[in-house]
Formats: sequence, structure tokens, C-alpha cells
Amino acid sequence: MQPIESYNLFDPATAENPFEYYSVLREQAPVYQMPTGMWIISTHALCLEAIRNYEAFSSKFLQKMSGGALGADGNIAGPETLLSNDPPSHTYFRKLVNKAFSPMRVRKLSDSIRVIAEDLIGKVERGPARFDVVADYSVPLPLTVIADQIGVPRTHLAEFKRWSDATIVPIGGMATPEQLIESLKLTEELKSYLGERCKERMEDPKDDMLSDLVTAEIDGERAIEIKEVVSILQQFLVAGNETTTNLIAATVQFLLQNPDQLALVQNDRKLLANAVEEALRLETPTCGMWRVATRDIEIGGELIPEGDMVMLRYAAANRDEAVFANAEAFDVQRPNAKDHLAFGMGIHFCPGASLAREETRIGVELLLDRLPGLRLAPGNDFAHHPNMLLRGLKRLEVEFDKP
Ligand code: HEM
Repeated sequence: MQPIESYNLFDPATAENPFEYYSVLREQAPVYQMPTGMWIISTHALCLEAIRNYEAFSSKFLQKMSGGALGADGNIAGPETLLSNDPPSHTYFRKLVNKAFSPMRVRKLSDSIRVIAEDLIGKVERGPARFDVVADYSVPLPLTVIADQIGVPRTHLAEFKRWSDATIVPIGGMATPEQLIESLKLTEELKSYLGERCKERMEDPKDDMLSDLVTAEIDGERAIEIKEVVSILQQFLVAGNETTTNLIAATVQFLLQNPDQLALVQNDRKLLANAVEEALRLETPTCGMWRVATRDIEIGGELIPEGDMVMLRYAAANRDEAVFANAEAFDVQRPNAKDHLAFGMGIHFCPGASLAREETRIGVELLLDRLPGLRLAPGNDFAHHPNMLLRGLKRLEVEFDKP
């Protein structure tokens, strides 16, 4: 182990394999000010404490990250609605979004997930006996599910993917100025495209999530504006697409790397849901989230001054031995696997959690059912995209037995 100051989360080697750093942080300094000035909170208990104290740990981090240059309500994502917003206006938008993720909508989504996944596997079956789970399956699956729900026709999927990728760039913390400018340009294109889709659904509602969103009414509250719906849709893309892609790929990776665990799941398919929780815990596709201290605040024996940026490192909390025994192991029978913080907790708890879980459970189950002898192909390096916030495999090559 190296001295704590010598690790750097923005260094690609540490971002690739951060787990030793996480254990040093949890043991030596669970509330730690990195040499860059940013604080990082790494234990399960202290992450929860900060999440619950949302008045002191504000989510209005985008303004702070842009140095105020993007204005009070004109930041990269448009008006602040959910991820980078605080009560009381967060509460209003959250009620609307909860309507779009009603149990009825998620049930209907399960059917469309199955149809889309079957179709993708059909394409794989017709190709060679080796394929890349990421490019051929875990990227198109969530992208197509959400595109269908927000009125993006299949013919626009490639463009939609390019825009969707661009919106993630600013929050990753590792982009060059050129990449940021390109991202802003593409984000503007995306916003006007989504605005058009909103107008369509306002005039002619269909049986989809966007229609739920634009027609939702909260008692006694004003109607939602198009630019606000656009901001919410952008967050579905930023917070929802790549993360689900990464979760599907990670679940397949962990199962294929652990034949004993795969055998348990094959014998009892009900364990697959817990396998997904373990992949969420160990891979934590959203490694953490930003907060800003609204006042001098004491936590874990440290004093964080007003205005400082704080990273709640969910990926570190999810391997905390104080909560998860033998925390580094992938254990599909772990009784408390669901206690992870991969979807956050409290007022910002991920509204897409049940959708992401369904997409992964159904998607992985169909792969196991339809492709006999599914196994890792030789030559995988298991490298991840360089990003300090989102963790995901670049590729995952697998093989299966062709009849
Ligand atoms: C494996 C997949 C996913 C992961 C790991 C994930 C993770 C997270 C986390 C950690 C948060 C809370 C951030 C915080 O503490 O401030 C969050 C919030 C959010 N997620 Fe997800 N998410 C996933 C899928 C989705 C999907 C599929 C959607 C929508 C289609 C979605 C939409 C959102 C939105 C809108 C928020 C902001 C909620 C708020 O601030 O009230 N996410 N997500």
C-alpha cells in the first residue's frame, strides 16, 4: 500500500483499479481532503449520513463545477430539476418523474425489454460464435428501451447514441477543453431534438413514458414547461443509459468469471436478481456523486468548510467490511446484497432503479437461456473507460456453442 496522498482518482491507472485506494481511504481517512481540495467520503455509514443531511450537503454541484459561468438556471443540463437540484423545487420534479416510473409503466416496460433483448440475441445467433457483449448487447438494449419511451424512432438511434454519450462528458471530470466544447454543441442539438419530441407528445399523447411525463399533473402545482421536461429527459440519458449498459456487462462478467456462482444461478434462476445486486455493489456503475457544503459542516470528525466540493464515493462504501462480510467476493447468496448504495439513497434515490434492475435481470437471463455454453472468450483485458464517475467495461468478448 502507498501513502494516501500518492493516490489520485483522476489518474487513469487508479481509476482502472481503485479498490486498494478505497480500502486505504476507509481505514485511514473516511472523510479525506484530496490534494486537489475536493473531499471524498468513503464509508457506508458516513455516505448515508451525508445523503440524509441534504441541507448541508447540497446537490447544486453543476453551478459550482462550472465556476458559476453557466448561470443559476442555465447550466449544461438546462434548468436544474433532479440530479443537481435541492428541495423545494427538486420535490416538485421528483413527484412528476415518479409518475412516469409508475409500477404500471415499469410492468409494461418489462414486456418491451424482453422483445428488444430477444431481437438483439437473434442477431447475435445469426453471426459468429464470438461477440462483444458491450457493443452488440448491453449498449443497444437500454438505448432502444429508453428511445422507444421518449418517441425517438429506431432510424435515429445512432444519432441519439452520439448525443447521449456527449451529455456524459462534463460530469466525468476527465474531459479536455475541446471535448467539453464539442459536448456542449452536441448537447444543444440534443435539447432541440428532445424539445420537438415533447411537443409531439403534448399534442398527441401515446402509451409511453414521455407522454406520462408531459401530461402528469401534481395537485395544485403549475404545469411542467418543455425546457424542464427536456432537462429531465437528458438526465434519463446521462444517468440511465451508460450506467445500465455497464451493469449488464458487469453482471455477465462476474457470472462468467465465477463458475460456482453461475452454477448456483443456473440451478435457481431466482438468484439472478441477487446476482444483479452483487454486480451493482461490486462494479457500482455510478461510482459516486457530487455534493457542495452549504455551510461549515462536521462529519466523521472532520470540518468541511462552506463551499467545498464533496464526493460521496458509493463504490468505496459498497465494499465496506463493516456492512458486507468478505466484501470483495461476488456472492449471489449474500443476504444483504441490496444494502449497497449503487442507486444512492434518500431524496435523490435513483428513480430508474427498477427499470435498470429489470433490464439487467431479463437481459442476462435471456443470454443464459438462448446461448448455450456462454463463456468468456480468450483475450479479454477487462479494461474500463477512463472516467472517474462512471465505471464500465470497454468490451467483453464471449463465445457460445453454435448448434
Ligand atoms: C444501473 C443503472 C443505474 C445506476 C447505477 C444509477 C445510479 C444513480 C445514482 C447513484 C443516483 C443518485 C445520485 C445522488 O446520490 O445524487 C441516481 C439518480 C438518478 N437516476 Fe439513476 N442509475 C441507473 C439507472 C437509471 C435509469 C435507467 C434512469 C432513467 C431512465 C435513471 C435516472 C436517474 C435520475 C433522473 C436521477 C436523479 C434523481 C434525483 O436527483 O432525484 N437512472 N442514479
